[in-house]
Amino acid sequence: MGFTMGLNLLLLLAMVATNIFSLYHLSSTIQSKPPAAAPVPDHLIHQLSTIRATINHLTSLQPSAPPSKKTLSAATTAPSDLLIYTHISPIASSCKDNPILLHQYMNYTPFAVCPNEAPLAEDLILRGCHPLPRRRCFSRTPSAAASSLPTDPFSPLPEKTALLNHYNCKTFSCFAGLKPETGFDMKVEKSRFLTYRSDLDLPISQLFQIAKSAKSVIRLALDIGGGTGTFAAQMKLQNVTVVTTTMNLGAPYNEAVALRGLVPLHAPLQQRLPVFDGVVDLVRCGHAVNRWIPVTSMEFLFFDVDRVLRGGGYFLLDHFFSKKVDLEKVFTPLIGKLAYRKVKWAVANKTDSSGVKNGEVFLTALLQKPLTK
Ligand SMILES: *[C@@H]1O[C@H](CO)[C@@H](O)[C@H](O)[C@H]1NC(C)=O
Ligand SMILES: *[C@@H]1O[C@H](CO)[C@@H](O)[C@H](O)[C@H]1NC(C)=O
Repeated sequence: MGFTMGLNLLLLLAMVATNIFSLYHLSSTIQSKPPAAAPVPDHLIHQLSTIRATINHLTSLQPSAPPSKKTLSAATTAPSDLLIYTHISPIASSCKDNPILLHQYMNYTPFAVCPNEAPLAEDLILRGCHPLPRRRCFSRTPSAAASSLPTDPFSPLPEKTALLNHYNCKTFSCFAGLKPETGFDMKVEKSRFLTYRSDLDLPISQLFQIAKSAKSVIRLALDIGGGTGTFAAQMKLQNVTVVTTTMNLGAPYNEAVALRGLVPLHAPLQQRLPVFDGVVDLVRCGHAVNRWIPVTSMEFLFFDVDRVLRGGGYFLLDHFFSKKVDLEKVFTPLIGKLAYRKVKWAVANKTDSSGVKNGEVFLTALLQKPLTK
């Protein structure tokens, strides 16, 4: 249980690292341009306090000491809808390992409006409780609906179309202004994945050229930990369907993806990809997949990527970061186990302060799955 807890926390950290990573990446880009005053420290402090708050929140929800008799008995009086549901469908064992959270989640009035506890579902999912039990209540809805089809996935997100009351930011424009690097400023997003600034970049046009010259078609892709879905948005303009897995850590990422007319999958990194074997042409792992994920979890993730990729499909590790020594000793051999063809393999120093301090490097790799094993 302690181990599971540690593992889940690590995975959580990895998810949170998504934001940190984009920040570092951005800050290094900012720093490489002349004297533009980099607003990094403020953002960094904000990010770090978000991580600290999340961890405090999670650890306070799961006491590390064995629960006292009182909490134990509170935890064993299961809500009636939980009892009913357990007869219908088995509940993942990790759900049962978190009875306090699970009971909180299932403690509601059936056929009424669900309680206002948005982060609770994610707290459970991030602890491995997935799929969550179904509930018989009405989930809350925002006061407005988007009034038109999003013909352009880079138009500003329509306000009042998502429930934001449990965030510090109450509007999408606030998210865009406060933390543009997290993917809410559509003016910034519009140019992502299009330009080549260093060898670590693989612009979408290049990706298509590579696929074309290999006579390989990219129709359908998965973007793992894809934030607000910008990779999917850029690919949509190329008539490619991309499904984005994303969690709502600190911001309404799922809502943003959906409002852009893209498909958000609310799935944590440790979940088996909800896609059949050999059906996708490309899997991209972005910010969320990095050295903060325990190596064994990463190995299972990579092999699940292999499972869903068709022969000849591509695996794109986009700005994966780790310590230089680990890339050589741990991650390169791990990636090697897939026995994919290395189409691109670019390593460069991570030049932000934490990268320098920890001797970290970025790897951008495009790997092609062999046609037959
Ligand atoms: C995408 O599809 C539309 C409609 O079929 C077509 O007009 C457009 O040229 C296509 N774009 C690309 C980049 O293939
Ligand atoms: C990368 O960083 C290492 C020290 O960590 C340094 O020795 C090396 O010269 C750097 N490489 C480049 C290309 O800057």
